[in-house]
Amino acid sequence: MPEREREMTDWQELEHKYLMNTAKRLPVTLVRGEGARVWDDRGKEYLDFVGGWAVNVLGHAHPEIVAAVSEQVRTLIHTSNQFYTVPQLQLAELLVQNSCFDKVFFCNSGAEANEGAVKLARRYGSLYLNGAYEVITAMNSFHGRTLAMVAATGQPKFQQTYTPLPEGFVNVEYNNVEAIERATGSETCAVMLEVVQGEGGVNVPDDGYLKEVRSWCDEQGILLILDEIQTGMGRTGTLFAYQQCGIEPDIMTLAKGLAGGVPIGAFLSKDKVCVFAPGDHGSTFGGNPLACAAGYATLKFILEHDIAENCRQIGDYLKAGLEGLKPKFEKIVEVRGRGLLVAVEFSGEIAEGVVQDCLEEGLLLNAVKPNALRFMPPLIIGESEVDEAMGILERVLARV
Ligand SMILES: Cc1ncc(COP(=O)(O)O)c(C=O)c1O
Repeated sequence: MPEREREMTDWQELEHKYLMNTAKRLPVTLVRGEGARVWDDRGKEYLDFVGGWAVNVLGHAHPEIVAAVSEQVRTLIHTSNQFYTVPQLQLAELLVQNSCFDKVFFCNSGAEANEGAVKLARRYGSLYLNGAYEVITAMNSFHGRTLAMVAATGQPKFQQTYTPLPEGFVNVEYNNVEAIERATGSETCAVMLEVVQGEGGVNVPDDGYLKEVRSWCDEQGILLILDEIQTGMGRTGTLFAYQQCGIEPDIMTLAKGLAGGVPIGAFLSKDKVCVFAPGDHGSTFGGNPLACAAGYATLKFILEHDIAENCRQIGDYLKAGLEGLKPKFEKIVEVRGRGLLVAVEFSGEIAEGVVQDCLEEGLLLNAVKPNALRFMPPLIIGESEVDEAMGILERVLARV
């Protein structure tokens, strides 16, 4: 098709024609991004407070990621795990050096990372816990869309039409250690939790919850898996959110921001838990040089520029800005979150409408619940971007 004709194409019509109808898309076709801004196919500019769903931690087209990926594309895109490749080892070393873990397995998405973590816990159970296989997870959690992760995800709306679900998951109330204690049995091999529930509505547990869960797991000899797919890579103000909780998990999963937008996933474990033997697990694309070069550049930049600290400061500034809107709008009932994973809850179900109106005004937001907005911008934003977003939100809230 000639270039000119392609420019005139109604991409949204093509979507209806060719793509499975699974995504609830906003009526915008994005074609370009830079920093915390994106542009649509008509040239309209938006301030991006969705950040590719908490993925674009360094914003769009970050020069370090662009350089690393461009160089790697020219050099070696893919081999297979039959061979050693350098970016995979560089990224693994940097992750281990900056966390409490000893070993890394790379894959391609969050769901795949969680699947691998559960397989590792089950193998540990089969070797050391008399065949225990069950994993306790929380209600309102989100762990991904594969069948096993739908079973792990404690939200009936994701489970209902896909039964029978794989066995071996029990969903209990979040932020309630007794619920975990009651659900623990001889078949339990692990507890798997988010440090802050992202998709569930940005639910921050009480201080001490994870410490109590850690103690319970230690008493019972079972494993603690933390899903840091949304909270990791600086998002909550430290490189990993567990670092603010005074505990260390046995296994942690990552994805989303790990390679700044290039698809990747990983799970990390302590040596004593790493019971895989050659052939026990695998992934064709997992640890691919391209994704790992992007991951290495992203993590290096986050560490060298203390992006997590910027995220903590700007996150506090954002929360203060939102708290400042509270006296002006009775409909705001709560502001919550950590770092740049923040939600505002309203007294009514107005979030979708606010997102639509903000979109028209050039601000991208997410309605994490019918009555709550979520903010998950790139971690490199500054106060001026927050001020701009607050200005738009204030104008929109005055109308709805
Ligand atoms: C905490 C958490 N775990 C797992 C996932 C699934 O990740 P993916 O969509 O990459 O499979 C998500 C995605 O939103 C998530 O937020």
